[in-house]
Amino acid sequence: MHALTALFLALPISALAGSHEPWAHRRRAQHWTRNEPVTFARRGVTYKLSDNFSGQALLDNFNFYNQADPTHGLVQYVDAQTAKNEGLAVVQDDGVVKLNVDSTTQLQAGQPRKSVRLESKKTYNSGLFIGDFFAMPTGCGTWPAYWTVNGNEWPNGGELDIIEGVNLNTDNQITAHTGPTCTLSGGHINAALGHLVSPTCTSSADSNSGCPWTPQGNASYGHNFNVQGGGVYAHLWDSTGISVWFFSRGSVPGDITSGNPDPSSWGQATAVFPNTDSCQTTKHFHDHTIVINTSLCGDWAGNAFNDGGKCTGTCDAWVADPSHFKYAHWAIASIKVYQPQN
Ligand SMILES: *[C@@H]1O[C@H](CO)[C@@H](O)[C@H](O)[C@H]1NC(C)=O
Ligand SMILES: *[C@@H]1O[C@H](CO)[C@@H](O)[C@H](O)[C@H]1NC(C)=O
Ligand SMILES: *[C@@H]1O[C@H](CO)[C@@H](O)[C@H](O)[C@H]1NC(C)=O
Repeated sequence: MHALTALFLALPISALAGSHEPWAHRRRAQHWTRNEPVTFARRGVTYKLSDNFSGQALLDNFNFYNQADPTHGLVQYVDAQTAKNEGLAVVQDDGVVKLNVDSTTQLQAGQPRKSVRLESKKTYNSGLFIGDFFAMPTGCGTWPAYWTVNGNEWPNGGELDIIEGVNLNTDNQITAHTGPTCTLSGGHINAALGHLVSPTCTSSADSNSGCPWTPQGNASYGHNFNVQGGGVYAHLWDSTGISVWFFSRGSVPGDITSGNPDPSSWGQATAVFPNTDSCQTTKHFHDHTIVINTSLCGDWAGNAFNDGGKCTGTCDAWVADPSHFKYAHWAIASIKVYQPQN
């Protein structure tokens, strides 16, 4: 779905330094069958907080990307100083980080609007990632995403979109993009709570819809997510694959809230990308940065702008009016990364 994300290849990712785990200890790919246990979070593993990205620490540990949007969004991503000066990245008194789209400047149709895109300074090869959001951008023209990517060798290093959608969508899409070849298979696929739209994760510049899952329920994205007070997207990435859980605000497990997360107690995941012979996740995903961005229009939101008939006219004209972006913000409680305790 990231049409032309290949262009991303040509762009510098400012920080790919960071943790790098040796792959020498990887377990062999496993075969999953319908008879195997349906959750593959290992029991008896204790996870310890390694990165607490909340409040000012969130802004300090992410780079502000300020190049052109590779997916042709009508956005101007701004640097940290501009974001601070113009109130586009704000730490509220309660510690919540707001990432806003400029909602004051009247533009001409076709001019880009200021927005922010954050990329973690650290890169990851595994971990338990818990993103807690009170709100996410929504509305005609918006294309928000919370995702992880190997920006240097897309699609070969993999991309995992944890939150992504456009315009007035009500369903989130949790999607993996990989190099050749990765097709999801096995019993875990049937057991997961979400709906698998397509099993083919292998992506290229010409064929980049990836393998999207849509969560169950109606609160996973956009307005419905926000009116419930948002929620938590947690994902566990280890040698058995990647599992993603969605919990709306009212159903966040107590062990997450208390800071002692135990994924083996969470029940079926929403979306799974198990490590199997048909998709060796241990090869396809490595050296990921965490990214949060809000694009406008562009290859997905722009092309789908009139779908469903609720966003009318052109996306370019819509973006010119600042009042349309009052609610196009992320309100981030925290992004926490935990690692298994040895
Ligand atoms: C995480 O960081 C926030 C903001 O600095 C702080 O309030 C909170 O206590 C920290 N949590 C832990 C578990 O260290
Ligand atoms: C969402 O689902 C809940 C429970 O199934 C239901 O009560 C509610 O009306 C739904 N909301 C919308 C906006 O569809
Ligand atoms: C964020 O940036 C990525 C890579 O540049 C792009 O593929 C994606 O479409 C953008 N999404 C948003 C929401 O800006």
